Amino acid sequence: MIRVSKRLTGGSRAKVSEPQFYANKAVQEYAQFKPTPITLRQLLFYERHRTNERLLKSANYVRQELPIRIAHRLRDMQQLPFIVGMNSHILTVYQLYLDAFERLRCCKPIETLGDNARFCQTLQHSLQDHLVVIPHLALGMQECQEYITIEKRDNFMNTLLRSRISRRVLAEQHLVLSGCPPVVTSAANDDLPESGKTMVFQHCKAQQILRNCISRLEPKYPGIKMIIQQSCDVEFSYVLDHIEYILYQILRNSLCHTKSRHPSHLHACPPIYITVCANDTDVYFRISDKAGGIPASVYPQLWSFGRHGNFKNVKTWTGTINEQIANENDPAAAQLMPLGMGLPMSKVYAEFWGGDISIMTLDNFGTDAYVRIPKLGDQLEHLDEEFSASD
Ligand code: COI
Repeated sequence: MIRVSKRLTGGSRAKVSEPQFYANKAVQEYAQFKPTPITLRQLLFYERHRTNERLLKSANYVRQELPIRIAHRLRDMQQLPFIVGMNSHILTVYQLYLDAFERLRCCKPIETLGDNARFCQTLQHSLQDHLVVIPHLALGMQECQEYITIEKRDNFMNTLLRSRISRRVLAEQHLVLSGCPPVVTSAANDDLPESGKTMVFQHCKAQQILRNCISRLEPKYPGIKMIIQQSCDVEFSYVLDHIEYILYQILRNSLCHTKSRHPSHLHACPPIYITVCANDTDVYFRISDKAGGIPASVYPQLWSFGRHGNFKNVKTWTGTINEQIANENDPAAAQLMPLGMGLPMSKVYAEFWGGDISIMTLDNFGTDAYVRIPKLGDQLEHLDEEFSASD
């Protein structure tokens, strides 16, 4: 059951009208509360057994939970080195979070379907506004590379992204329960159904997800075969966007490196082999390439948001934040975001519901990526680690 805490009732506090970066009592007050993590199975239960009573319960849980989760991230941003916190991109993210925090904490308890309809508009508004967060973060972190250690930056990014996933899942799930489209789709996303998502958790078929990723990638890397060699067709409930993101990203890395290793004989490129299997608790994907492996000097930096030029694309990228926003509405396009964060981001997605990614490499030969996705949905959201500003 989703628990609705009575500790914060909302609606009674004065609104903070400007970004008081280091002194915001409401943020401090909310950040004292720990988030209440939930499992995928709890969310799924609400999606499958919708009643008005559960809808209002869900609304009040989301209403109380989001400001707490945002307050923790606002506090993290306050702990960044001053020069990083004052970067214009980071400040933009801070302001967006502060606005959402205020909007949400000022929502009164939701007692009727009418209250819920208004609350849903607030959620839609916030989801839409926050589409710019990732590009701004990437640009901000790239501009501040010299002012923050790599460890702190990774810690900050991991915590922030994990929390962002959690908030967006909660908000989208509640909108779906309420029959509202989670995000207004843009003209750039003709391939999305008009009403947007109708379910956050979808009945996922491992082979189908892989085939979708392959068919999107094939035209971009002609001549490199992706072969599903051994596969049981596992079916399970999961957040489809999350798995698609991970598999697309890993396949794309393999294709990209295969292409660089064999630039002039694409027709003779070694194929990428994919294996899917499952046991009672997990689904496993293995993606194997012969793209030359990862040098020992690069391997330890694979999961870093800042090392080995992971932000290098941001520096040379000539697109606009608006293009990024258009892309973010479309998981397929978002996977192409040239922000250089695909691999660490995939790990955040995989670990979010208790899965993981590991990479084994033979330098000068090839790489195997292993993705484990728990299929029972009984693990709590991975929220526990906090950003630590101290060394
Ligand atoms: C985010 O996208 O970062 C959010 O926090 C969205 C939420 C306020 C609905």
